[in-house]
Formats: sequence, structure tokens, C-alpha cells
Amino acid sequence: MAHDARPIDLRSDTVTRPTPAMRRAMAEAEVGDDQYGEDPTVHRLEARAAAMLGKEAALYVASGTMGNLVALLAHCGRGDEAILGDESHIFWYESGGAAALGGIAFNLRPTDRFGRLALDDIAGAIRPVRAGYPRTGVICLETTHNRCGGVALPVDYLRDVAEIARSRGVPVHLDGARIFNAAAALGVPAAEIAAQADSVQFCLSKGLAAPVGSVVTGTASFIEAARRARNLVGGAMRQAGVIAAAGLVALEEMVNRLPDDHVRARRLATGLAQIPGLVLDAATVQTNIVIFRPPSGLAPEAVIAGMKDDGVLISNYGTRGLRMVTHYEVDDAAIEATLAAAERVLAPVAV
Ligand SMILES: Cc1ncc(COP(=O)(O)O)c(C=O)c1O
Repeated sequence: MAHDARPIDLRSDTVTRPTPAMRRAMAEAEVGDDQYGEDPTVHRLEARAAAMLGKEAALYVASGTMGNLVALLAHCGRGDEAILGDESHIFWYESGGAAALGGIAFNLRPTDRFGRLALDDIAGAIRPVRAGYPRTGVICLETTHNRCGGVALPVDYLRDVAEIARSRGVPVHLDGARIFNAAAALGVPAAEIAAQADSVQFCLSKGLAAPVGSVVTGTASFIEAARRARNLVGGAMRQAGVIAAAGLVALEEMVNRLPDDHVRARRLATGLAQIPGLVLDAATVQTNIVIFRPPSGLAPEAVIAGMKDDGVLISNYGTRGLRMVTHYEVDDAAIEATLAAAERVLAPVAV
């Protein structure tokens, strides 16, 4: 496919535009007032999402941030603690919402390069029941792990955390924004991953290319609490079937193509790793995210500007490095064009 004047946009998998099938489904969506529980398309999306994740019930929300927030509000009371990785999306990028709106404290634990918190550290962080201690309200994990370069948490690891959590009576919330990428990388159904957590949030608007929306899943009683929390944050919608229709297409048509994005990310990583001085942890390139550090002496901002001049957009991940994300609108030619640009921008003095 030849490239038009649009830049190759690797900043995120959120930049995708709805597919033609999504636009058709949106135009034709059957709708009702979802706050009255009367939108049939939202009901269909929630039922489909719950079934795919093997959960009793699901709730359609505006974003991944809102999904994590309502899940934490449903699990925790004011003053409760959430055990959370220090590289987690909830900690870094969600405006401290759980603390601001729910009075939930973050008990931050170190994250290893594969997105894991140490099991003994989790066990030690769960508070014993004592009047002076805060109550541990939830343990949060993230898969795939954004700031760790899209690594997928192994099912055995999730099972070990679930065992510790159950033995101490603490629920596990999984920020599974990209759970279908994780499932594809591990070669297991998403439900097998979801089974290790009490609640799971996943996004329709990332690699699945829907324009809006995420889904929270869990038991029916948990989803009732999450629904109340969604109302509290102003997230109850009306004829939301118009956007939920695109989410249904995302689940029906976009999940099976995710391995293509993973192959392209690996090709990107392999090409980038050839550039002298560039630092890239190949073992963490498991899905559609590639994080790397430019050769020393090259400022990240200069790399971003140079790539942009060559028609490639990438993002600055601060302490983690620079980030490229493959998605439905990035084809093989775009990957090769990106590598050619990277060779020019990242190796200007290479001989
Ligand atoms: C792991 C993770 N969780 C949650 C979110 C939040 O999703 P949203 O941007 O829809 O609020 C993101 C967004 O990039 C994410 O990567």
C-alpha cells in the first residue's frame, strides 16, 4: 500500500480511525436510553465482552481511565489502599483519580522489567487486620504492561498472585487495556487471563480500533457497584449504542488480526537493534509496543523532531525512553519507511 501525505503515526495504537465496517454499524445502530437500561446495542456489547472474558457481567465506560477508576471505587472505600506497581498506568497517567475521587491510597511496589511485582512483596504489602492499619482494598496488575514495553504477564504469574490475594481475602483488578494483545502473545484465550482476576478493564479504542470506549467486567454484584460508581463520575450515557456498535465490530473483527501488529513490532525492534548505540530490550518486545533509548548524545526531543521531519510520529516515554506502537493503520511498508528514517535520524555519524 502506498503512503499518502499522512504521517506514519506510531505514537500509540489509540490513533486509529474507525474502520468502514464500524462507521456502517454506528450509522445503523439500534439505540435507546442506556441510563434507563434501554440501549440494546450497549447490552449486546456488554454481553459479548462478558462472554469473551468469561465473566458474569460487564459495563461499558467511556475510557480505560474511567474503567480503572470505577473498578477501584467499587473495590475500595475511602482510606483503603490499592497495591499498585510503580510503573503502572493507573499511577502514572490517570490524574490520581482514585485518590482524588475515592480517597484511595496507593501502596506502590517496584515493577520488574517484565511488568511483575514480586510475589513476596505483594504478600508483605497486604495489611494485617488491625485498627491502626489502612485496609487493603485491591491489588492491581497490568497486562500488557504499557511502560514495560507491552510485555504480557504469564498466566502462571497471574495465578500465583490470585492465590495470594484469595488467601488474604483481597480482590485483584487487572488493567487489561490490551488484554487481547496479551492473549495473542501468550496463545491463550483472553478468558484464561481474566479468570485470574476478580475484575478486568479492557479498551476497545486501542489495537481494536474502535473510536471510543472500554469495558469493565466482573461478577454481577461487582458490576452493579461499578455502575453506581460510573454514575458518580458522570459516566452514565444515553444513546451510547451509536459508539458501542463500533465496539462490537472491534470484538468481532479486530481481535484476530492483532498478531500482525506483533510481527511488525518485532520487525521494527530487530531493525532498530542494528543501529549502533541504540538500547533496546528485545525480550520485552512481545506485543505491539517497542521502547528504546537513542544512542547517548542524541536527545530524545531531537530524535522525535527528526523522525517527524521524515514523516514518522513517535512518543517520548520520559524515564523509559522513546516509544513506537504498531496498529491496524501501520502496514509493512510503513515499518520499512520507519526503519529507513530511524537509520538516518539515529545514526547520523555512523560509518
Ligand atoms: C495500560 C493502560 N491502561 C489504561 C489506559 C487508559 O485508557 P484511556 O486512554 O482510554 O483512558 C491506557 C491508555 O493508554 C493504558 O495503556
